[in-house]
Amino acid sequence: MNPDGRRLVCDCPSPMVTRRLARELGRLAPPGLVIALTGDLGSGKTTFVQGLAQGLAVPPDCYVTSPSFTLINEYQGRIPLCHADLYRLGEGADLEAVGLLERLDQDAVVAIEWAEAAAADLPTDHLAVRLEITGEQQRRITLIAGGRHTDILLRDLAAEWRQDPFSA
Ligand SMILES: Nc1ncnc2c1ncn2[C@@H]1O[C@H](COP(=O)(O)OP(=O)(O)OP(=O)(O)O)[C@@H](O)[C@H]1O
Ligand SMILES: [Mg+2]
Repeated sequence: MNPDGRRLVCDCPSPMVTRRLARELGRLAPPGLVIALTGDLGSGKTTFVQGLAQGLAVPPDCYVTSPSFTLINEYQGRIPLCHADLYRLGEGADLEAVGLLERLDQDAVVAIEWAEAAAADLPTDHLAVRLEITGEQQRRITLIAGGRHTDILLRDLAAEWRQDPFSA
């Protein structure tokens, strides 16, 4: 984690807005992007990945659900989306054993729920997405760039988000 990286803080007043933020990120996402999602149970990590899938042009009939039992789900879109959930693995998750390590080096977008379990294995230049429950329908989402590539991405996302924060 890079505490000094560029940050974007978004207060999302509904699941729809959370999905819209993530959809914009998906539109801008380059191959190889790693997104580390953290936040309490029910904070919206999977909801965020649903929006991400939309932005990556994953067909709408591929419904994104939490891969809690399969650990990894893959969806074909503009770029393949690899969606992992490390909740069941807990601290010190072995990404190699679950087959995730090899996906980090490929041309996919990799989104990892409960990413703190594998913090040591993540590339430095990943995008951290922290979700906080700030109300029944309200989530504060903080995106933090870990390096040069995610910094550029976050700059572009911030520009889009400020330009058009209320569109459907
Ligand atoms: N602003 C919001 N953004 C995202 N989700 C919201 C928001 N407001 C309410 N919700 C609701 O909170 C729930 C979030 O569930 P979700 O499965 O996305 O969380 P999660 O973080 O993936 O949980 P888990 O840790 O169990 O995997 C959904 O029911 C969603 O509709
Ligand atoms: Mg989830």
